[in-house]
Amino acid sequence: MTIKAVVFDAYGTLYDIQSVASVTEQAFPGYGDVITQVWRIKQLEYTWLRSLMGTYEDFGVVTRDSLAYTLDCLGLDDGGAAPRRIFDKYLHLDPYPDAVAALTALRGRKLAILSNGSPDMLGALTRNTGLDGLLDDVISVDAAKVFKPDPAAYALAETRLGVTPREVLFVSSNPWDVAGAKAFGFTVAWIERVSRETMARELARSGPLPPLTIFKALRTQMDVLGFEPDYRIASLSELSEVVTA
Ligand code: LAC
Repeated sequence: MTIKAVVFDAYGTLYDIQSVASVTEQAFPGYGDVITQVWRIKQLEYTWLRSLMGTYEDFGVVTRDSLAYTLDCLGLDDGGAAPRRIFDKYLHLDPYPDAVAALTALRGRKLAILSNGSPDMLGALTRNTGLDGLLDDVISVDAAKVFKPDPAAYALAETRLGVTPREVLFVSSNPWDVAGAKAFGFTVAWIERVSRETMARELARSGPLPPLTIFKALRTQMDVLGFEPDYRIASLSELSEVVTA
């Protein structure tokens, strides 16, 4: 197998979406975890709903709307500046600690992001975190006006990078994205950030389950959609072995 391009999902894969928790907790002490998890769950739900409804709005709109839903549902909508401050963290998310080293080790192949993020959000995020200099392209689904896992969104990587789907190693930690990318025809590496054993241990803890554990149960374990990744790895740093295998 010749991998000519390594294409990354952004949120959850190169960037730690849980890093918004510091900002949500600061804005609404005691509610940081529940805001963070409900927000992300709703954000993705809105991408899928809008794609199915044929009412695409970009990820900035979806991210703000899902935050508004979350604060309203939790009775925290005080009309203040908190939503703007919280949203801003999406432009300054923490990259995973091994992101820079992993991208550097993969140099020589085309390296790109293919994300639901809007061009503005992804441009700001990659610039603010310095990953822009390590990437050949930052591809937003906005060009297709539909969100992943619609095949038209994945097809953007093919046209923008001039490669066939099998020449792409698509990398995501999001199980639904892994299934979508496999259904499209990419070679896929799944970053299994929460192993089955860790998940089982967290669920077995006594006492009420924190929102983060519920989130992990919903969004970190492989989905039953009839597709399996080609590679299961635990972190970005294992990718250089995958592409040279
Ligand atoms: C991305 C999100 C959805 O496309 O993970 O980057």
